[in-house]
Amino acid sequence: MYKIVSKEVLNQAVELMVIEAPYVARKCEAGQFIIVRVDEDGERIPLTIADYDREAETVTIIYQVVGYSTEQLSKLQAGDSVVDFVGPLGQPAPLHKVGHVVGVAGGVGSAPLYPQLRKLHDMGVKVDVIIGGRSAEYVILKEKFEEFCDHVYVATDDGSLGTKGFVTTVLTDLIEKGEKIDEVIAIGPLIMMKNVVKLTKPLGIPTSVSLNPIMIDGTGMCGGCRVSVGGKTKFACVDGPDFDGYEVDFDECMRRQAMFQEEEHECKIGRGV
Ligand code: NAD
Ligand code: FES
Repeated sequence: MYKIVSKEVLNQAVELMVIEAPYVARKCEAGQFIIVRVDEDGERIPLTIADYDREAETVTIIYQVVGYSTEQLSKLQAGDSVVDFVGPLGQPAPLHKVGHVVGVAGGVGSAPLYPQLRKLHDMGVKVDVIIGGRSAEYVILKEKFEEFCDHVYVATDDGSLGTKGFVTTVLTDLIEKGEKIDEVIAIGPLIMMKNVVKLTKPLGIPTSVSLNPIMIDGTGMCGGCRVSVGGKTKFACVDGPDFDGYEVDFDECMRRQAMFQEEEHECKIGRGV
């Protein structure tokens, strides 16, 4: 059993939990993920590691309450436990010691981006971040990024905080102002990552993206998380989740992501959600 040390509600849809998980905390690196199961009958929920503390032997997860299983997780409080917390899974993010990296986060994508940017900062890289959300309340981890980023830019769809527009609006401004950017790391909705790559690829700015397709086993056995990268089939759970954004077939990812929307909707109706 893995004890929940603390829980925080970040906004109406997103929560943070710090979980006692000594093995994962000792081994994990930025970019890797875990699979959590609330109880013996629970579904396996893959979640990117948002932070870890090797001394306290804890791992932080940030999740969006979107379906039955995340609702079950959300019902737990500090002091409760989850039955499984398996990991670290996947590959560590490919982080390079370059001059200047700009992170681009859409919504809950801030969570997996945070440990990557913090590690780059620790490596001596100048790090800026652009955080986007539908409105001010959906902008998460701003204060945490401010601890080490040179600039924290915010974009909201409705203009309630920072620039009115998408994260790509701010990235376009930076590029047009002549900002020298060596690499971009984009994590968020697929359409956001696709549009970030549309901006960076013609300029030759290397861009890493993080994919979170539907996962079942998380160990490369089921094929559920397959994605096309550079014309080859890859499994996000063992080959990723981070990939070269230039090479990802985003349209295929979006088609596959849409495949189970009806089932999820029916499941919610069935439970009166
Ligand atoms: P959202 O739909 O509210 O969008 C967040 C922000 O992304 C927007 O505010 C905007 O700035 C940007 N964005 C949205 N559409 C855009 C477009 N067409 N062009 C440019 N920018 C655009 O996000 P949400 O509801 O918080 O969902 C977050 C998404 O991130 C989910 O789809 C989730 O699957 C994904 N995610 C990915 C990972 C990963 O590891 N890859 C991890 C967590 C979440
Ligand atoms: Fe089964 Fe990746 S989740 S192969």
